Amino acid sequence: MQYPDATTNQQIKRMQQLVQESARVAVLTGAGISAESGIPTFRDAQTGYWSRFRPEDLATEEAFRRDPETVWRWYAERRAAVHAAAPNAGHIALSRWEARVPSFTLITQNVDGLHARAGSKNLIEIHGNILRVRCFARCVSYSRRDEIEVITSAADTVPRCPECGDYLRPDVVWFGENLPEAGIARAFTAAEQADLFLCVGTSAVVYPAAMVPQTALESGATVVEINPEETPLSTLVHLSLRGTAADLLPQVLGLD
Ligand code: OAD
Repeated sequence: MQYPDATTNQQIKRMQQLVQESARVAVLTGAGISAESGIPTFRDAQTGYWSRFRPEDLATEEAFRRDPETVWRWYAERRAAVHAAAPNAGHIALSRWEARVPSFTLITQNVDGLHARAGSKNLIEIHGNILRVRCFARCVSYSRRDEIEVITSAADTVPRCPECGDYLRPDVVWFGENLPEAGIARAFTAAEQADLFLCVGTSAVVYPAAMVPQTALESGATVVEINPEETPLSTLVHLSLRGTAADLLPQVLGLD
């Protein structure tokens, strides 16, 4: 794909050099990295979920309380899309980079589990994971692997918690909810300690995730962005590469 201000060879070389020089690496990914696996983003104009649906109808506690069936059905559809998808060259490049550096932390806003499937190990899923469920009443943290597939295969009926009988819900962070404390703390520590911080495929407008690259900048990391579009980060970072994750990541990591 060609973009009006497509990445130049010089920019690619600069990033390759940064990759060579950096021993402490942290990466923040968003929905854009899974776009080339066929999973829609949230805010892209034609294809993004939030161009077709209102987040307050599908991704809040109030929405689930009001209409659990509709919310459950939407997550069942997204889960089916995740099962049908596979990690792309971008996910795979990041997992191979991890194997080459002493310190590598991958922070993702994605709930699709594709980074783990690509082999990433030091992974923080700060918005949860769509393939897990937990009790809506928070009676237990319910995520038994042997039962999870049976539970999540129920697309039409909202499953019940085996402990207390309340509904089970997807184990993701909804609007208005706090992020998992330990995970977001680890993400900020990785940003503070990074030599090189890379943002891939995120619009960088959802907080507190969007604060993580800002923390890296303030702590002295070299910050790079990979995105086909401009974002609020583009003018702040040291290097902004225009293009897609599956195209650029293998190139800058010397894997293509
Ligand atoms: P968005 O949909 O807001 O942004 C996706 C970004 O990916 C945009 O900046 C696109 O330009 C870029 N993009 C599109 N295709 C790409 C490709 N092939 N390669 C690289 N980049 C590409 O998604 P997020 O930033 O992840 O939260 O959104 C953050 C959060 O908002 C999500 O985790 C979700 C959402 O509401 C919750 O549900 C809590």
